Amino acid sequence: MRTLTVATPSHQYPIFIGENLIAQADTLLKPYLSKKAAIVTNETVAALYLPAFQTALNKLGIEHFDIVLPDGEQHKNWQTLNLIFDGLMQNRADRKTTLIALGGGVIGDIVGFAAATYQRGIPFIQVPTTLLSQVDSSVGGKTAINHPLGKNMIGAFYQPRAVLADLSTLATLPARELSAGMAEVIKYGALGDLDFLSWLENHMPELMRQEPAPLAEAVYHCCKMKADIVAQDETEQGIRAWLNLGHTFGHAIEAEMGYGV
Ligand code: GLY
Repeated sequence: MRTLTVATPSHQYPIFIGENLIAQADTLLKPYLSKKAAIVTNETVAALYLPAFQTALNKLGIEHFDIVLPDGEQHKNWQTLNLIFDGLMQNRADRKTTLIALGGGVIGDIVGFAAATYQRGIPFIQVPTTLLSQVDSSVGGKTAINHPLGKNMIGAFYQPRAVLADLSTLATLPARELSAGMAEVIKYGALGDLDFLSWLENHMPELMRQEPAPLAEAVYHCCKMKADIVAQDETEQGIRAWLNLGHTFGHAIEAEMGYGV
């Protein structure tokens, strides 16, 4: 396992990167959890990883409940956000309850925004289960939902307490999602790290086969680059905008094609 720290002016938190980390969530996340937690995930991820996460919380004697949302970008909206608030209210979540975002970018963004706004802010932990969310959206505290007139238009900068990037979860990722994540990895090289770009070129077959060592190296390198940028520019006043390379065009193309609507 490898660990690095994101140090923003508002918060400092660890990113844990490695294989089988959900199984070790009890020991790794213990310092960042409170007595009560809500695991928020989607139907697809719940079937795969929710039981293991529940087991980890049980080992720590933490009271917990689940909120299982529909899967898909088209659900990243007010209605789904309200399902999270419904679950928190019904289970009497208070200001110390920890929200756990177990899933890809949609779950991370919507749960982060719920954490930023429920009772004016409660702690949350990111457990990204896609390559794209491990190298990008789980790190740096951008949280949001979509508005019918624009993607990610309603949100907040709100940093998690910790990020647990379990590379084993990528084994169940559809090929298309793995490729989308790998495009994001290549973006970090294209942002000006030519050594990394050439390393990626040499290791792409192993990366696409998900060999643990090169995969861990790639995720670590991207997270390190992102952590360094976020430390300098937490709220995207300057250099952080570079990280949007490809996203802005991508969002426009997706919107035009009706994807996620
Ligand atoms: N996804 C770009 C950023 O986090 O700034």
